[in-house]
Amino acid sequence: MNKLHLLSGILTMTICSIANAQDLSRAQYNWMLNCQGCHGAEGKVAAIDTPVLNNNVATFLSVDGGREYLTSVPGVVNAPIKDADKAELLTWIINKFDPEHKPTDFKPFTEEEVTRGRLNPLLIQAPFRRIELLKKMK
Ligand code: HEC
Repeated sequence: MNKLHLLSGILTMTICSIANAQDLSRAQYNWMLNCQGCHGAEGKVAAIDTPVLNNNVATFLSVDGGREYLTSVPGVVNAPIKDADKAELLTWIINKFDPEHKPTDFKPFTEEEVTRGRLNPLLIQAPFRRIELLKKMK
């Protein structure tokens, strides 16, 4: 490998890590602004009806319909951010709060599936769908 190759390799790595850092902070920023009021900064809040995301949220990915559920809960559907940013945020949540339960073949959420979730919102049905999914996990 000559010096030019090495240099361009280092440059690419640096640009990629800056881009990743920006994605991360945008997801975190969106989390702080739109979600943590209910779920807590670390996703650990358990209010009467607010579930703990920490060490739990990725378990939904192991059952049929669970991934769709995550895209269609009211907190996600109603957040005033772009679907592409929601996809990034949901992916960030899985990696940040529940890497332990993340399936090995996990694929980042896409804008398309978030749009589908938004067009098929779970409103008052959300807690009932949640219970159905929890039963499937047993
Ligand atoms: C007003 C409070 C509130 C806000 C704001 C909120 N959520 Fe939620 N979230 C809930 C409640 C309550 C549930 C349980 C489902 C239901 O009853 O709506 C839930 C469920 C979830 C779930 C499914 C996890 C599970 O265990 O059922 C995810 C994922 C989630 N929220 C992510 C988010 C994200 C991401 C945001 C911000 C874009 C957000 N929430 C904003 C209250 C909130």
